[in-house]
Amino acid sequence: MILKEIRDAKDLKTLEQIYRKYLGKKGEITLIFRGLKNLPKEKRAKIAKDANALKALINKELKSKSETLKKESKNQISDKLDITLPGKKIVFGHLHPLTKVLREVSNIFSQMGFEIVEGPEIETEYYNFDALNIPKDHPARDMWNTFWLKVEAERRHQSTSKNAGVKMALEYGANRLLLRTHTSPVQIRYMEKHNPPIKIIAPGNVFRHEATDASHEFQLFQVEGLMVDKNVSVANFKFTIGEFFNRFFGKKINFRLRPDFFPFTEPSFDISINCVVCGGKGCSVCKKTGWVETAGAGMVHPNVFKFCKLNPKEWRGWAFGFGLERLAMMKYKIDDIRLFRSGDLRFLTQF
Ligand code: FA5
Repeated sequence: MILKEIRDAKDLKTLEQIYRKYLGKKGEITLIFRGLKNLPKEKRAKIAKDANALKALINKELKSKSETLKKESKNQISDKLDITLPGKKIVFGHLHPLTKVLREVSNIFSQMGFEIVEGPEIETEYYNFDALNIPKDHPARDMWNTFWLKVEAERRHQSTSKNAGVKMALEYGANRLLLRTHTSPVQIRYMEKHNPPIKIIAPGNVFRHEATDASHEFQLFQVEGLMVDKNVSVANFKFTIGEFFNRFFGKKINFRLRPDFFPFTEPSFDISINCVVCGGKGCSVCKKTGWVETAGAGMVHPNVFKFCKLNPKEWRGWAFGFGLERLAMMKYKIDDIRLFRSGDLRFLTQF
């Protein structure tokens, strides 16, 4: 009966229970051994001999059954583990489409001899507006819907003083903080510290407090460009931009310059290209016009040179500010700018 119990055991745990039942501290065979001393002498030897034989037999059977069970479980594992199956593919991350486009744009301008520089995303009112020839009360400021930053001192003034405005002006002067609305402040920061000739691009994030649609975001990348030298002209500018478009799109691109207004350039223009999303027929990206505005640009305004302590009679320059998302949309035929920062992997993994 004990032997049958052992043979029927399905796992090691059951074997362990059988061992305890018969040979454990309070096991049935163990109790026989303990009771030997109470038996009459003549019976003691025989029963001890039989009990020992039984104990040896149980141990032997337990050992053999345990080995069999262990072997079986090993076979089961190796049945499940097919080492010939191909491994799980590791999914690698990849660059965001805007990072890729930014690198492409930077490479093209580097090849054309432009240095790449950066400026802060949190900017002062002075660099974002004043030094760019946009006075405090000028309506042109409204062109850039601004995220103003409330700093600690401003809160303090508001809560404690009736003359908050006056105190603020004393403490900050023109240096209220904001999230830069364009990359143009980098022009000023660079010209303050470097003498011409200058040939730079300044890519980076900018922020605008405005509603989004298929071609407008509240956070976007711009690529600022600035060239200053003795004899630069709109002709140089047009050639450089045309060359950039051809290299970026890998084919000849139809673009146009139209008069525009920026307080920091004179004359100013907007640069538009034929919408590649609809082939110029009209869609939500080009607002049915067939053209997409990709950049603002112009000849550097003499007042901007003066703010940077450069003589406008000596130096001439041109500048531009591209919207990187718009360039990416045109290159990859993307019909909604909001896809870039949506975090939607169905979109992102296509690049
Ligand atoms: C400017 O920001 C000027 N600083 C550009 C400039 C630089 C002019 C140097 C002259 C000299 P504007 O606001 O037009 O200009 O923006 C420039 C480009 O950024 C636009 O042509 C467009 O491509 C892109 N852009 C502007 N606002 C948005 C927006 N909300 N969403 C997506 N792209 C935008």
